[in-house]
Parts: sequence; structure tokens; C-alpha cells
Amino acid sequence: MLKIAVLVSGGGTNLQAIIDAIADKTIADARICLVISNNRGVYALERARRAGIEERVISPSDYPSRAHFHKALLGAVQESGADLVVLAGFLCTIPEEMVKAYENRILNIHPSLIPSFCGKGYYGLKVHEAALERGVRISGATVHFVDCGTDTGPILLQKAVEVLPDDTPKTLQLRIMQEAEWKILPQAIDLIARGRVVVEGRKVKIL
Ligand code: GRF
Repeated sequence: MLKIAVLVSGGGTNLQAIIDAIADKTIADARICLVISNNRGVYALERARRAGIEERVISPSDYPSRAHFHKALLGAVQESGADLVVLAGFLCTIPEEMVKAYENRILNIHPSLIPSFCGKGYYGLKVHEAALERGVRISGATVHFVDCGTDTGPILLQKAVEVLPDDTPKTLQLRIMQEAEWKILPQAIDLIARGRVVVEGRKVKIL
């Protein structure tokens, strides 16, 4: 059984999509062993509690330095025995030690079609503001493995979503979540749980 640690910062709708997909067996043979939030009081933690999943807050403000925070984060993931780490709207940078310890075992969901509208500074509504500003007709979401860069790791799944003429950053964000993120993140985890994913350099093969 694939053991998953999910890292969150906010509302946790992507976490919920994973919880639901495990419950209805859309994701085969997996369980969430730990949810970690860097923010106290976020709804994602409530979602974990309701599903009976162990949750922890590991916040940079509770540690004397970034290095201590990173050590605590890696320690908690290791202690949980997770095989896979899923960043589901996690807004902190993943330390290099963790990227190395979990090479090609950390997944991130990004709300655009990488390499568009990604990298430093592109998070949350900023991604959708930039897409609307550029006037793209299609945006979407990407599930990728995490390497030492920002949104630069091997791409596992992508799904396109139409941009509508009256879209605001918020309406586009919601449609991308509904039509893409909540589908491809569970789908990606299922592929990994079934042992169907092979990473070869920057390319990902789906068996
Ligand atoms: C999602 O748009 C995700 O792509 C981005 O942050 C948002 C998280 O939303 N990285 P939620 O906390 O899963 O509801």
C-alpha cells in the first residue's frame, strides 16, 4: 500500500479530492498517513481531522531559523513512513535535503500548463491574473515531480481548461480546480500507486 504525506497551506480542496478518491477507490491501494500544514487554523486541517487522518502544524514561525523548520518538516515526513509526498497547495519551498531524500517521490500540482505562468512568484491568484493579462484562450493544470527548481521538475499529467471571455482570476481559478486539478492530482497518485510511472531524466513514462 502506498503511504502518502500531504502538505497543505490553505483550504485543502485538493487534499479533499485525494481523500475522496481513496474512499471511492479511484485511487488504488493507498492511504494518507499524515497531513502537514505550515499554517495554523486552515480548513485543510479540519478536512484531515474529519477523515480521521493524523495532522500536524509545522510552521516556520515556531523555529529559530529556516534550517530548523526544514529539518522538522523532513523529520515529520520521514517519521510518517510516507512513500510519496504530495504538495497540495503548499506554499513553502521544499528544502533541497527533502528533494534529494525523496527524489521523484514528491508531487506538486500547479494551476497552469507548465511552462506557462510558473516559476517564482506564480502562485495562487497571481497565476490566473497573469494568464488573463496575457490573453491566453486555454490554461489548465499540471502535476509534476519536484526537483530543486520552482515548477521545473518532470511533468506527469496536464489538463487543459478553456478561458472564457468574462473570466476573472477567481472564476478561472475555480474552473481550473474543478475541471483539472481535482481530477489529475488523484489520477497521478493512482498511476504511482499502481507502479505505472517511470521517471527518466526530465521525461516521465506512463506504463
Ligand atoms: C490550488 O490552486 C493549487 O493548484 C495551488 O494552490 C491551490 C490550493 O488550493 N498550488 P487548495 O488548498 O487545495 O484548495
